[in-house]
Amino acid sequence: MLDKLKEIEKSALESLAAITDQAALDAWRVANVGRSSPLMQVFAGFGKLSKEEKPVVGAEANRVKVALESALAERAEAVKNAALAKSLEEEKLDVTLPGRSVNVGRLHPSTQQLRRVLDILAEMGFQVYTSREVETDDINFQMLNFPLDHPARDMQDTFFIEAGDRGDNPILMRTHTSPGQIHAMREYAATNPQDPPPIRIALPGMCFRYEQITARSEIQFNQVEGLAVGKNITFADLKGTLTDFVRRMFGQDARVRFRASYFPFTEPSAEMDVECFVCGGKGCQVCKNSGWLEILGCGMVHPNVLQNGGYDPNIYSGFAWGMGPERQLMLRNKINDIRYFWGNDVRFLEQF
Ligand code: DAH
Repeated sequence: MLDKLKEIEKSALESLAAITDQAALDAWRVANVGRSSPLMQVFAGFGKLSKEEKPVVGAEANRVKVALESALAERAEAVKNAALAKSLEEEKLDVTLPGRSVNVGRLHPSTQQLRRVLDILAEMGFQVYTSREVETDDINFQMLNFPLDHPARDMQDTFFIEAGDRGDNPILMRTHTSPGQIHAMREYAATNPQDPPPIRIALPGMCFRYEQITARSEIQFNQVEGLAVGKNITFADLKGTLTDFVRRMFGQDARVRFRASYFPFTEPSAEMDVECFVCGGKGCQVCKNSGWLEILGCGMVHPNVLQNGGYDPNIYSGFAWGMGPERQLMLRNKINDIRYFWGNDVRFLEQF
């Protein structure tokens, strides 16, 4: 019996050594350690053995069983590794191939320009003050010296929001960032009504107008409003501040000029032009041969507006301006159609 066990072990190990794939391994397991394998037959016939044989054969049969099982496990591991090595060999990976590029998002050109403007203004001491996009008629117009039926309202065709009959004070989408002046002045003044603190703020944000959409006009656009209020602020401060801003934005050699203009909420009012940076002032299509590009409206805050904000116009004065980041980008990059900004065409957007 012991010889038979030796024979079983020898032949099983020999056949195992020749195995190279999983299917053959499975078949080997059934044939050599399975229920009807020769080894298991030895266990089955155990009862017929003599008392003396039992412990000797039993010990040897167990040893063979353990030996075969551990040889199987070892072989299985080797077969698995060989298969892995083979697949690595067959599916060679070229790590020098360039990777697939991932499309990285970026800031919208308007946001980029808005940030440039605000960065420069921050360097000049202007703090950002954000104001609401949905306004009431009184703040958007009346407090800024546009009485009801004032013809200047025609410059800013308005989106009204249906909110029941609110009489002379309907709700609307702000047509400009100027109403933020009223909110800001009132908030600052409330901190010390007897002697309100000076103000130096930039008010950025989206504005909305009920316009026919064309290459030159959109129903939405950004503005950056500026407001400085204090004692003894003069038109010279306005000119100095805006000239400095333009030089920081468009270059130290940029030349500017101020032209008299009209806005209900400033007196006197002006528009500022910068020398055309496309043709250097010689005259071209972009500046319509004038050599100058208009970039903002500005003026000294009207006494009524100061009053409405809680600042006594006999003590305080101030200047304000409003400019458009999209317009600046259009001029700078010769973009001839404002509709590109909100058209969501990546071919346009990815150029910035
Ligand atoms: N709110 C004006 C507009 O949208 C722009 C403007 C002009 C703002 C003069 C000002 C200013 O603060 O002083 O057309």
